[in-house]
Amino acid sequence: MAESLKHIAIIMDGNGRWAQKRLLPRSAGHKKGAENVKIIAKAANKLGVKYLTLYAFSTENWNRPKDEVDTLMSLLREYLHSDFQELHENNVRILFIGERYMLDDDIVKAMENLEKQTAQNTGLTLCFAISYGARQEMLQAVKNLACLLKKGDISESDVDIQTFSDMLYTKNIPDPDVLIRTGGEFRISNFLLWQLAYTELFFSQTQWPDFDEKELESIVTQFKSRERRYGKI
Ligand code: FPP
Repeated sequence: MAESLKHIAIIMDGNGRWAQKRLLPRSAGHKKGAENVKIIAKAANKLGVKYLTLYAFSTENWNRPKDEVDTLMSLLREYLHSDFQELHENNVRILFIGERYMLDDDIVKAMENLEKQTAQNTGLTLCFAISYGARQEMLQAVKNLACLLKKGDISESDVDIQTFSDMLYTKNIPDPDVLIRTGGEFRISNFLLWQLAYTELFFSQTQWPDFDEKELESIVTQFKSRERRYGKI
């Protein structure tokens, strides 16, 4: 039986190398990469995928040179005020996961507004991981759980896989069926470490700005022929 595909997660790697190969500044790669987000979101929507989670900025990316961080933040600002409106018109619901306290107030406000504005949309749920790190997410969940246990709000026997999942940013979002990493590296890089337990992994040599609808469709076809056993036989 073909596997059902609800959720695709993508590590959008290779923007910098895409630009360098063309003797352009790295920022040109990020700009092109941001444009590709819209194209792939529309393609996923068309394929009937219900959730698309994109790794746009990791907690570790804060350590990049200041001008690169500034470029990514201004791209995000631009996106929040224009490109997302087009996605809203396409019935896309938008969510953000990550450490918001690290971001500028105006960015956080714009994110909250978009989440509110698109909350009733019934097409694709597009989730952006921004200032996101999976270890940090899990550590925070452990701290929150410890606090509840200490206060006696829950007991140790109440804590199971579901309880822990519900303490993560991705509460109410099914685990990814497919993870795609573009850019030719074979790493997870602190992305959704808990949620990827049984996800099918795909690594593409294509740099993110060149990753297109055709390659996405080919991965979806390959996924459908994979057998997922979840540890059973
Ligand atoms: C990795 O490429 C990509 C990122 C660190 C940022 C991803 C961001 C975007 C695609 C655009 C921003 C999105 C929005 C919504 C504004 P890299 O820079 O590590 O490339 P490299 O490995 O070739 O150096």
